[in-house]
Amino acid sequence: MTTEANVEGAGRSVIVSLKNVRKSYEHEGKTLEVLRGIDLTIRSGEMVCLWGPSGAGKSTLLHLIGTLDMPTAGTVELDGNLVTALSSSRVAALRNRAIGFVFQFHHLLPEFTALENVMMPGMIQGSMPKGALRERAEALLEQVSLSHRASHRPSELSGGEQQRVALARALTLKPKLLLADEPTGNLDTENSAEIHKLFHKLNESHGTTMVLVTHNPELSRSLPRVIKMRDGHIESDETQPIER
Ligand SMILES: Nc1ncnc2c1ncn2[C@@H]1O[C@H](COP(=O)(O)OP(=O)(O)OP(=O)(O)O)[C@@H](O)[C@H]1O
Ligand SMILES: [Mg+2]
Repeated sequence: MTTEANVEGAGRSVIVSLKNVRKSYEHEGKTLEVLRGIDLTIRSGEMVCLWGPSGAGKSTLLHLIGTLDMPTAGTVELDGNLVTALSSSRVAALRNRAIGFVFQFHHLLPEFTALENVMMPGMIQGSMPKGALRERAEALLEQVSLSHRASHRPSELSGGEQQRVALARALTLKPKLLLADEPTGNLDTENSAEIHKLFHKLNESHGTTMVLVTHNPELSRSLPRVIKMRDGHIESDETQPIER
């Protein structure tokens, strides 16, 4: 029911638009079709859950939305840019500017403190003065309730705290779009619930559009739009009353 979901969001700008996207891999002389014609529109401020069995193509789709990979056929538009027609350096610049990523494992840099990890995307990009960057990182750490752990290295943080740092880090460059692949896949129930709340809080406070791949039923129930995938297709795309 793609149209219903779209009507609901009418009026808000389109952040992600995929048209007839296909992805296949050549494997041992055979063509393996992983995505078989995906049409998808996501509007500014939406929170979308990607749901479906293992191997359905969720991570592949998230990587295409995130410009980490290119489709075999079809078009990907991100924030008004036709990604599939851009050079790889322009795509990389767009990705850095517009997208934040959170993965199942946090990939924090072990030698740096929580604060430095949150500052890192800005240090690499280099467009923000260090003082402003530090202030922003401190504010983000406060939002994820970790001000008191700012000087800890990742090994001195709990799993849930590490993932909260990763979430703060994903927002350092104020991305329009946050993509998360099983962000609570590695956490216990309590820490997962904490991260779920944070997604909602950050969506409300920053207006960040979010696409979250999850197997977690509580998280999926808390998200207003659920896209179910199966065998490389979108099986259903529905809005739901939010349980929070
Ligand atoms: N580089 C690759 N080469 C060949 N096949 C691949 C490649 N990457 C993924 N696949 C296949 O594509 C299918 C979809 O993979 P994908 O990682 O998108 O699934 P998923 O829905 O994220 O599953 P899970 O819930 O287990 O993470 C799988 O069958 C996988 O084996
Ligand atoms: Mg996956």
